[in-house]
Amino acid sequence: EPRGTPLYAGKSKKVFAADDPDRVRVVFTDAVTAGDGAKREEFPGKGELAARTSALLFRALAAKGIRTHFLRELAPVEHLVRRVRIIPLEVVVRFLATGSLSRRLGIPEGQPLPFPLVELYYKSDELGDPLLTEDHVALLGLASPEVVRYLKDEARRAAEALREIFAAVDLVLVDVKFEFGETSDGEIVLADELSPDSMRIWTKEGERLDKDRFRRDLGDLLEGYAFVYRRLAERFPEF
Ligand code: C5P
Repeated sequence: EPRGTPLYAGKSKKVFAADDPDRVRVVFTDAVTAGDGAKREEFPGKGELAARTSALLFRALAAKGIRTHFLRELAPVEHLVRRVRIIPLEVVVRFLATGSLSRRLGIPEGQPLPFPLVELYYKSDELGDPLLTEDHVALLGLASPEVVRYLKDEARRAAEALREIFAAVDLVLVDVKFEFGETSDGEIVLADELSPDSMRIWTKEGERLDKDRFRRDLGDLLEGYAFVYRRLAERFPEF
């Protein structure tokens, strides 16, 4: 099917116009990158697993009252979503220490955090997505203090909801990265994707099922993603 020129091409997804100007189509690709694109590989079938997992989780969050950009699936790798202006912040919520938190602060890998930690990063490939304080956000004019407050609260709510969903299938949500967007009528909604590309999911035994398999050579990537999707789809057929 001819798709025309993407409105936007990211590292693992492409965004195309839809018939309705208030909607766009998100196409999930098989590309996986790490270290800001320094490491890149194609995994045939990854796009479909990420798209299906994202669709399921967007529907599950909507059922818990979280407002999202997701409308429906158009194809196995394609979502119809509300058109938004992406707010250039990555909002990360962590339940267990790992990754950059363990590296930066020396907290042992896998240590449970005393409260869900919410962090803001600047979505900027050129700068390598630096960690931001709220004063940095104001300095750069990325969002008002009121919007920052809303994003952090909503990210915490969405992360807690996801943690419950994964706990119901005996999996552990370690951390998750959210992106939010603003619709033409000024509503702020959860956008982007919700897949093992953007969150860390462990078994209770600590086996990694997410993109860390690629980042850290911890096993077959598709096997991990397929395991997560199958578990969720069996337990939550309604989504
Ligand atoms: O690397 P770090 O520990 O900061 O990652 C925290 C969480 O954010 C992880 O779930 C990771 O997959 C996600 N993340 C992301 N995109 C980035 C950076 C981190 O999805 N650019």
